[in-house]
Amino acid sequence: MAATISFVREPMFRRVLLAAVVCVVGAARVFGQAVVVKPYVQHGDVGALGATDSKVIAWTVESEPAAEWVAEYRVGDAGEWQRAEIMSTKLLARKSNPPKPKDVTDVVVDPPHDYRWLMQRADIRDVPLGSKVAYRVKQNGNEIGAGMFSARKARDGAIDFIVVGDTAKGTTEQRQIAYAMSQMKPEFIVSTGDIVYDNGRISEFLSKFWPVYVNTDRADAKTGAPLLRDAVFYPCIGNHDIQSSDFGQTPDALGAFYFFYTPLNELKLKGTLVPKGNASRIERFKQTVGGRFPSMLNYSFRNGPAHFLVLDANKYVNINEAALREFVEADLAAAKDAPWKFVVYHQPAFSNAKKHFEEQRLRGLSPLFEKHGVDVVFTGHVHNYQRSRPIRYAPKLDAKGLVQISKEGMISGELTVDKTFDGKTDTTPEGIIHIVTGAGGASLHSKYGVGDTDEAAEEKSKATTKPKKDDTPKISQAAKEEAVEFMDQYIGDRHSFTRVQLTPQRCTITQLDAKLKDLDQIVITK
Ligand SMILES: [Fe+2]
Repeated sequence: MAATISFVREPMFRRVLLAAVVCVVGAARVFGQAVVVKPYVQHGDVGALGATDSKVIAWTVESEPAAEWVAEYRVGDAGEWQRAEIMSTKLLARKSNPPKPKDVTDVVVDPPHDYRWLMQRADIRDVPLGSKVAYRVKQNGNEIGAGMFSARKARDGAIDFIVVGDTAKGTTEQRQIAYAMSQMKPEFIVSTGDIVYDNGRISEFLSKFWPVYVNTDRADAKTGAPLLRDAVFYPCIGNHDIQSSDFGQTPDALGAFYFFYTPLNELKLKGTLVPKGNASRIERFKQTVGGRFPSMLNYSFRNGPAHFLVLDANKYVNINEAALREFVEADLAAAKDAPWKFVVYHQPAFSNAKKHFEEQRLRGLSPLFEKHGVDVVFTGHVHNYQRSRPIRYAPKLDAKGLVQISKEGMISGELTVDKTFDGKTDTTPEGIIHIVTGAGGASLHSKYGVGDTDEAAEEKSKATTKPKKDDTPKISQAAKEEAVEFMDQYIGDRHSFTRVQLTPQRCTITQLDAKLKDLDQIVITK
């Protein structure tokens, strides 16, 4: 295997672990092109739900030597295997120096040359809605990967999926949560952002994401589970995923856009991600990923009775931009017939945690979400679990009718809270429920909420042991009281993920920890 590892004062156990990762990748070279990422299932280009479904099977290999590739699929366990058309896109990304590690998890497996890869994509088309579809991929006649995915359901069908955020940091808890999620056998997984730490680079996907969710053949709490071979992963682009978008300094930036295949759109925004640095590298990136940049930042899809709208909530987003508001409005209006509407973005508009408290800019879209009947908003960014009461929110507008927003991203306005909904005896919320599910792997934040009395005690104990400069904006008493009023559940002491079981009439949302203990559950009915 022509890979070396950059060790930066790593403990021995971690070196052994990394060597094992490299061996797994290297083993696949025996009979042809080395397999960098084993086959996994992705959504593909079209978000709307037609009479049949389509999917993309994707995998990544080193581009030499030439090999013969076959991808096959069949509906159910029996039946004829059929060939899927394969498209290869060459990826040539300059290898960059390993990032300076901030902690022991920031280790990068870096080959000693440029990445010279083929991004392989097999398109499976026209499979019946609601079917189980098996697939397998062969190189020179040898199977290098296989899986079985659930085709999307019709509008009256039931779906069972997971929402999780702030995942691939290379921690023990990330692997435990991956294993726990695999035991739920989700049909698909929706990310609430910060897919890979710290900078969303290709090299970080290689060391922290693919080994845990796809490449491992074992499923256990120590290694993770190959769950993305069977479950579609829907990316949401968080701040860490774009943290290094300077192709001069990090030529392997913006890794998510290479690996995921989300619905394409024509949305062009002024307040959006602009890659910086070396122009020819940026051009190569754009050519390789095609329309997925910038479509992956804002996209939507249907499955069964649900419509999902995934939005970019990073700092450059301007919630007053007309094109963004028109996109959100048109997307939700077109989903009128969907019994359930979910919105997903990274930075929570409604959170009771001190960390990231000020990043509230998506509050500015609340009236649009309410107008079109959004049921639940899922976010991450804060590494814990929070569930709000049903909320209605009218942000303060200026003389021109634009949402007033502070430089840090704070918005004030009129809050209306449904205090009778409890998800048990009262299952019909008056307003939108906001869920922060950002405890999927990265180290935990803010054990207590800002308004909780225990929070003061925690801060005090920290102050006596480790005095630290606090540069977060001061949170006013009124803002604290507001957060306490809208937040119903707050679990900051453990990693967790969200399971959603949905029929056209009933939505059950359960928060589970790594041992599959139920931490919180609500039912919403129509
Ligand atoms: Fe984040």
